[in-house]
Amino acid sequence: MLMNAYYNGNFSSIHDVRIPLTDRAVFFGDGIYDAMIGRNGRIFMQEEHMKRFFSNARKMKIPIGHSENEFNEIFSTLMQSVQNECFFIYLQLTRFSKERCHAYPDSKRSNLLVTIKTIRLPNSNSLLRLTVSEDIRHGMCNVKTLNLLPAVLAAKAASRNGADETVFVRNGIVTECSHSNIHIIKDGRLITHPLDNTILPGISRSHLLSVCRRIGYPIEERCFTEQELLSADEVLVTSTSRLASRAESVIGHPYGISDSTDGASLCKTMLWDFESFTSI
Ligand code: PDD
Repeated sequence: MLMNAYYNGNFSSIHDVRIPLTDRAVFFGDGIYDAMIGRNGRIFMQEEHMKRFFSNARKMKIPIGHSENEFNEIFSTLMQSVQNECFFIYLQLTRFSKERCHAYPDSKRSNLLVTIKTIRLPNSNSLLRLTVSEDIRHGMCNVKTLNLLPAVLAAKAASRNGADETVFVRNGIVTECSHSNIHIIKDGRLITHPLDNTILPGISRSHLLSVCRRIGYPIEERCFTEQELLSADEVLVTSTSRLASRAESVIGHPYGISDSTDGASLCKTMLWDFESFTSI
């Protein structure tokens, strides 16, 4: 049997995981999550992902109940089911299971779900079509909580409009996308929204910034408008599963795309980092 899931101490196939109806994720989305990719037994940027996961759990006052070593043992067992393929690990920590009540009673318990699945190696040449929608999310977008309904609706709106992602705009300012961060390149500078409560501090965002610093590419961490998005030279979208991709268009407005742009080489360098970290 494929052991591709862990839930509260037991390994099983993901189809056999039984989450109780009283898990507070069911009633309230009362939990946090994270996602990482890897290959050949190596998890890319694991330390950064785990640091964010632990810090989100602390912010939401959800007890973690597992040490870093215990997490590593869980990952090792799950990675046996994917051989040498590129994989995606999903971690979900929910407050615990209890009869429905808003003000949760204090508890030292929590529910931990970890799953693994194979995915295709990210493609640094892929080009995305983006659509735009008002950012109606809550004020804690810096925490990876399970309250994803506006993101789910926006992702569905993108696919309904033949697009790959939806860009969120709040009061004229581009924040991020439904499940990725967004950055523009203008006149040889990378411009990206500063870290605050309106965007997720993406691990791939910080990878992109570290690549820029490594090669001396200028960065501006500042807000940019929807108008600047449309008049940018290039648009980059980053997330764990795709690392970095360029946009070919936003609401049908096309960008000049060639293989020799700054954006193309930043995307390639990020993929190269992943490939070299995960090759045997
Ligand atoms: N999404 N912003 C949002 C709202 C996200 O949901 C994500 C990630 C990102 C990019 O973060 P990172 O680079 O750490 O993946 C930005 C994940 C992958 C998901 O929900 O599956």
